[in-house]
Amino acid sequence: MDFYIDTANIDDIKKYNALGIVDGVTTNPSLIAKEGVSLEKRIKEIAEVVDGPISTEVLATDYKEMIEEARKYVTWHKNIVVKIPMTVDGMKALKILAKEGIKVNITLIFSASQALIAAKNGATYVSPFVGRLDDISEDGMGLINEIITIYSNYNFDTKVIVASVRHPRHVVDSAIMGADIATVPPAILDKLFKHPLTDKGVKAFLSDWEKVKNLQ
Ligand code: G3P
Repeated sequence: MDFYIDTANIDDIKKYNALGIVDGVTTNPSLIAKEGVSLEKRIKEIAEVVDGPISTEVLATDYKEMIEEARKYVTWHKNIVVKIPMTVDGMKALKILAKEGIKVNITLIFSASQALIAAKNGATYVSPFVGRLDDISEDGMGLINEIITIYSNYNFDTKVIVASVRHPRHVVDSAIMGADIATVPPAILDKLFKHPLTDKGVKAFLSDWEKVKNLQ
């Protein structure tokens, strides 16, 4: 299972990349907007740090403009994956870009039928948003299970990126279900490492050793 980091913050990307847990990066217009830097500059900076897929989202809503943006993005770096929303225009753009060999991540997936259509049109990745479904009392991880079953039934190559991750349980359940990737915000990556019994155990070992360390 791959872990992507779901942020455009370059300091966080460097920090978690150094821990060896970053296989790729996902960004979106909201994440880029927080950074106060141009999209192109930030994506190129990320590409210098992480050797893996970097999802870069189109801003156009019309399919012809989406295609133009996609073709421009892929000139920035070999690892660029173009992120396109799950709209009718998005599907038209996907069909054409997939034929050109451009890798596309279809985002804002909230149903299994959307994931099925995206796979049929040649998406390299789909991004179902589990947290936003949970937020409205739907079953985010239930959707992941449905998509994985459908893709397995028909041997689709499309990879599932579990997105809108809110807590470590989303990541663990993704792994149990066999999702290809979870894209995780920095604060949740921290929580994946932590357990109070680990901290307590380290403290107790050191304190016990303190009592005997001078014995000959
Ligand atoms: O990158 C897209 C997705 O992960 C957004 O998450 O927390 O805004 O629902 P969130």
